[in-house]
Amino acid sequence: MSQQLIFTNDVASAIDSIHSAVNPASTFVLVDSNTISFVLPRLKSQSAAVASASIIEVQAGDVHKSLDSLASIWKRLGDMGATRRSMLINLGGGMVTDMGAFAASTFKRGITFVNVPTTLLGAVDASVGGKTGINFNGLKNEVGVFREAEAVIISTTFFGTLSHTELLSGYAEMLKHGLISSPAVFNSLLATDVADIDPDHMLSLLRESVQVKRDVVDSDPTEQGPRKALNLGHTAGHAFESLAMKRNSPVPHGYAVAWGLVVELILSGMILKFPSSLISQFAAYVYANYRAMPITCDDYPALLDLMRHDKKNATAASINFTLLRAIGDVCIDSTASDEQISQALDIYRDLMHL
Ligand SMILES: NC(=O)c1ccc[n+]([C@@H]2O[C@H](COP(=O)([O-])OP(=O)(O)OC[C@H]3O[C@@H](n4cnc5c(N)ncnc54)[C@H](O)[C@@H]3O)[C@@H](O)[C@H]2O)c1
Ligand SMILES: [Zn+2]
Repeated sequence: MSQQLIFTNDVASAIDSIHSAVNPASTFVLVDSNTISFVLPRLKSQSAAVASASIIEVQAGDVHKSLDSLASIWKRLGDMGATRRSMLINLGGGMVTDMGAFAASTFKRGITFVNVPTTLLGAVDASVGGKTGINFNGLKNEVGVFREAEAVIISTTFFGTLSHTELLSGYAEMLKHGLISSPAVFNSLLATDVADIDPDHMLSLLRESVQVKRDVVDSDPTEQGPRKALNLGHTAGHAFESLAMKRNSPVPHGYAVAWGLVVELILSGMILKFPSSLISQFAAYVYANYRAMPITCDDYPALLDLMRHDKKNATAASINFTLLRAIGDVCIDSTASDEQISQALDIYRDLMHL
């Protein structure tokens, strides 16, 4: 992987040094309607590169990770004289880094870009790993390319203006990274109170967590196999997310992943003998922080249907999961029967006090 990952709370200096090294012909900063006021002013006063850059703003929110917004970025770049030697700095959450990276990867057949994630989810997941894209035709991330940023600057300095819900949502992906890596990483995450976290401690947890994703991505940059480890929690999680959407009460992605991790650890226990003491410990942590997605057995057919139609299962007759034999011992392409999944949902309801 050519991409540099820089962990620092001196973001301005990191941007300026990359900017000097690349020495672009012109520089653009992509922000959304929140990061333009929460993040940009501070960076502008500290970074010469940002102060002299042209600003491109898009509307905040995932519905704006769209072809219209993408076209507006291309147009602004073109109108303001960007060339193949220009640089785009993506300053925002996963929505800005996904779409900005795709805009930069396609404008003039590809210009240099740097990701500066400003949400925990962006820092630990979206900004790293080279997946770029937009939503299209009613489908998430339908159009995009794999392309790595020149650098990703990971900091915790911007998290002060995030809601607790957003922090917890990002933290669920860190829990996933803990589960697929090692007991040491997992235990340090479970020992941390997300509501009361010091920025330097968070930066050190982030460094560990991003390294887990980076190692997996390095082994399989275009998702041919091993990268499926990162799908842990996501087959059940996406089903919860879609069910909540159908009920017109959407839940944050990370919350659905946290509940999905509980279900998939239960399945791991049933199918691969993942230790039951760890399942109870993890379920208690998730319940304490995320509560539970309320379900009854009447929801099982819909949940099974959603799992079967998850895009990872497009061709499978049975339902496909990434499961664990132990923490750090991943088994991709595991399958479970409808009966096993229903039984796992029964245990989920038990552990989550439903
Ligand atoms: N490329 C990948 O591998 C990958 C992985 C996971 C998720 N994603 C994508 O990431 C996106 C979700 O990321 P997200 O949760 O960061 O969403 P987001 O970028 O929409 O940010 C969430 C909200 O926080 C606001 N915000 C951003 N930084 C802020 C700050 N410092 N202070 C206050 N508000 C701030 C945003 O304007 C937005 O309203 C989705 O589009 C998802 O598809 C991509
Ligand atoms: Zn996820």
